[in-house]
Amino acid sequence: MDYNQPMFDRPVFEGKTILITGGGSGLGKAMCAYFSQLGAKVIITSRREELLNEVAEEISAATGYPVYGIPSDVRDARAVSEVLKQALEFCGQVDGLINNAAGNFVSPTERLSSRAFEAVIGIVLQGTINYTLELGKYWISNKIPGTVLNIITTYAWTGTGYTVPSACAKAGVLALTRSLAVEWGRKYGIRLNAIAPGPFPTKGAWDRLFPESLRSMFDPSERIPLQRVGDKQELANLAAYLMSEYAAYINGEVVTIDGGEWLENGGQFNDFRHISDDMWDQLKDMHRGKS
Ligand code: HXC
Ligand code: NAP
Repeated sequence: MDYNQPMFDRPVFEGKTILITGGGSGLGKAMCAYFSQLGAKVIITSRREELLNEVAEEISAATGYPVYGIPSDVRDARAVSEVLKQALEFCGQVDGLINNAAGNFVSPTERLSSRAFEAVIGIVLQGTINYTLELGKYWISNKIPGTVLNIITTYAWTGTGYTVPSACAKAGVLALTRSLAVEWGRKYGIRLNAIAPGPFPTKGAWDRLFPESLRSMFDPSERIPLQRVGDKQELANLAAYLMSEYAAYINGEVVTIDGGEWLENGGQFNDFRHISDDMWDQLKDMHRGKS
């Protein structure tokens, strides 16, 4: 079996509705397609109405399950309430939320304006807060043990230069995930988890973070022990597992899916992979006082 194959062999989300922010492109679209294939009704939301409608039609035609596109900006709390209202009209109930929408760009931090920080933090952190609060309050008042999955990145905990607004925002989302997993887990049975992907080629991320002009200088797969980038279906498989009842005891966890990238680049001696066998022999002799 290949790693890019769908994981579940039965419609484990039949009768459930999953709302995915940023669900019209990239990883959000891949998750939408897989949840729909697994029997869920899916609501996708982002700012581009035409794209949402196209994707909803395409996926629904392929799977036979309904997909609804609702255009909205995650930064606008009032608009988020409207999305939930419409989602309930279409589907009756919403059981799961995937906070996947993001904004990001590369830049030396000293070149950024305060509005540049605001744009990214508004989408990533405030947007996640807006949806989590809206859905959380709805679940609590209707006694529904909902599930939230937040898409973060590994630099949420390592930090990183050149995408500092995103690093700050994703770190906030990680803190939100762990905090509410405890508070709402105990009181209401609501689970929150996160996925931290390494590089997965999507147009949205690649055009902004690894544009053609930089790709020859920084090949992301070179930084990864498994020497390849991720496949969207691998991420969709993990998301489906974490949102499913099979993961009912997983709460407050962040699962990294990066081929070992962040550990390789954090480990002090990992660059020693460049040392040849001959040199290792010499080093051994030297340490034993033979040369
Ligand atoms: C410096 C920039 C900038 C850039 C925008 N700004 N782009 N500053 N370098 N490249 C500044 C603007 O000058 C402005 O400040 C402020 O940010 C707001 O810009 P707007 O264009 O008005 O913002 P908006 O229309 O809201 O667009 C948001 C966006 C945009 C984040 C700037 O890129 C976007 O819509 N992105 C959505 C999709 C996306 O980013 N996908 C990638 C996710 S990938 P001033 O002061 O001039 O007004 C990801 C992967 C992580 O997260 C890990 C990978 C391994
Ligand atoms: P993407 O296709 O650009 O996805 C981002 C989505 O967010 C888009 O659909 C975009 O749609 C939506 N969005 C942005 N601003 C919004 C707003 N204000 N309101 C509503 N929706 C908004 O990129 P991606 O690679 O699939 O990223 C998906 C997630 O994975 C993000 O959380 C990202 O940080 C994370 N991630 C990706 C990688 C990677 O290598 N690809 C690595 C680590 C983490 P509109 O522009 O139409 O609004």
